[in-house]
Amino acid sequence: MAPPVVWFVGAGPGDPDLITLKGNELLITADLLIYAGSLVNPALVERSGAQEKLDSWGMRIEEMVPAMVDAAKAGKKVVRLHSGDPSLYGSIVEQIAELERQGVEVRVVPGVSSLFAASAALKTQYTLKGVSETLIITRPAGQTLEEDNISKLSEAGASMVFFLGTEKLAEIVGKLRCPRDTPAAVVYHASWPDQKVVTGQVGNIVQKAEEAGISKTALIIVGGVVDPAGRYQRSVLYS
Ligand SMILES: C[S@@+](CC[C@H](N)C(=O)[O-])C[C@H]1O[C@@H](n2cnc3c(N)ncnc32)[C@H](O)[C@@H]1O
Repeated sequence: MAPPVVWFVGAGPGDPDLITLKGNELLITADLLIYAGSLVNPALVERSGAQEKLDSWGMRIEEMVPAMVDAAKAGKKVVRLHSGDPSLYGSIVEQIAELERQGVEVRVVPGVSSLFAASAALKTQYTLKGVSETLIITRPAGQTLEEDNISKLSEAGASMVFFLGTEKLAEIVGKLRCPRDTPAAVVYHASWPDQKVVTGQVGNIVQKAEEAGISKTALIIVGGVVDPAGRYQRSVLYS
């Protein structure tokens, strides 16, 4: 008999067409679906043929893991759908450790992170010759993180993307040690029909985001790549 398996699947950033073919197949044929309700598009949940669908919002790992273990051991196809790509701010490692401890195999199907939906919305690259060869992905301190390293990181001259920081935009900007005229953007609900893109500079992005009414579910992007015109060098590849 095949060993019990749980599939961790990246749902993509919001647009229901941005799930991978493999993830979609698993979603459709799942028996038990556990999904992150706050960020996964309801259209994906509807698309799933699972008899049982559980929103993980408010569920503790102690409730989620037994549900997955019992279903997998009963021979059911279990899909745990995470927003974007499961490797970014998804807390999958603790779930995997517990599942494996209980004799359940885990497989992970990557997804399109909101990180990439945001660069697509901005029509830019995070790594761009002459502007930045480095991307820093980080988040501000908050309820689940005591201290962040934003000031130090911002001295590197890298492209920076902040997750989980919309409500703390002013605080993040206050910690940045790059020049106030460094380009900056806030991308709300990247790839959703109500996507909003606000661009400006470190010095005015807080006000611009406020004026646009953005207060949640956004990424903050800082660096020359937000406004690349006149800053970059042509790539060697196509020269
Ligand atoms: C718990 S993290 C999950 C990130 C996810 N694993 C990913 O790869 O996109 C949630 C944060 O991701 C960002 N986020 C998720 N989806 C987004 C979207 N479509 N547009 C902009 N930001 C998004 C927001 O900063 C949000 O607070």
